[in-house]
Amino acid sequence: MNSTILANHLSVNYSEEGPYESPVIIFIHGFPFNKSMWKPQVEALKDSYRVITYDVRGHGDTETGNEDFSIELFVSDLLGLMDALNVQNAILCGLSMGGYIALRAIVAHPERFDALILSDTQCIADTPEAREKRMKTIASIKVNGVKKYADESVKNLFSPESFTTKQASILAIRKMIVSTSRQSLSYTLLALAGRKETCSSLSKIVVPTLIMVGNNDIITPPAAARMLHEGIHGSLLHIVQQAGHLPNLENPDDFNFQLKLFLHRFAKPPAVLNTTVGD
Ligand code: MLT
Repeated sequence: MNSTILANHLSVNYSEEGPYESPVIIFIHGFPFNKSMWKPQVEALKDSYRVITYDVRGHGDTETGNEDFSIELFVSDLLGLMDALNVQNAILCGLSMGGYIALRAIVAHPERFDALILSDTQCIADTPEAREKRMKTIASIKVNGVKKYADESVKNLFSPESFTTKQASILAIRKMIVSTSRQSLSYTLLALAGRKETCSSLSKIVVPTLIMVGNNDIITPPAAARMLHEGIHGSLLHIVQQAGHLPNLENPDDFNFQLKLFLHRFAKPPAVLNTTVGD
């Protein structure tokens, strides 16, 4: 079900599926995609979990608002969405930028989250070179437009295998990028460039954590995932084969298998829903 709701003074586009009484899992997409990138995971989990996906500010059909974008603002939006949907506690799953948001959210509001899944993300801030590259990207989008940016981006997002086996996903991701406004792309690139590191806070994360990464991810490579794994006590690390930066789309069978295994172990849905109509 696709809906909009006012959260943190913003009209947020979201979708929720699955039994209302079940444990809640919230998926946060990467940059510059939208909530539809989680379709295979929604399908895999919706029978047993209340699955929430949403478009981050400026992406998909969520408004841009008037404030400067930052990871902290995205965290306020997430908390605003949880409050608006009456979700006290949730399991968080974030990919790349979604992982930056999830990490910052759990460090700032540990009491609101029960488990964490981090995919293809990292805890470091941008290096000066990475910041410089983002500024060049902003300038290039202004001059050459979003389509050229989408074509360039797609080349780095997928593993070599996916270019022959996952063409529908590649087209879908390209479409998501192209439908993001120039303004949102620039605002978000500035937010990513300005984000603070979370590596020094990893030891504060005490909830069950699963870390996944595509074996061929060249944006946030397996080394970045290992760093998260070493920092988060008791975390599990899984390397998804035949996948680049988007293993949830490139190898959904393995990604979903690991996800379900982890959730079953740490966030088992209630066997019998203990509710009565009229309660
Ligand atoms: C993403 O997929 O969210 C981006 O690659 C994150 C980034 O550029 O740091």
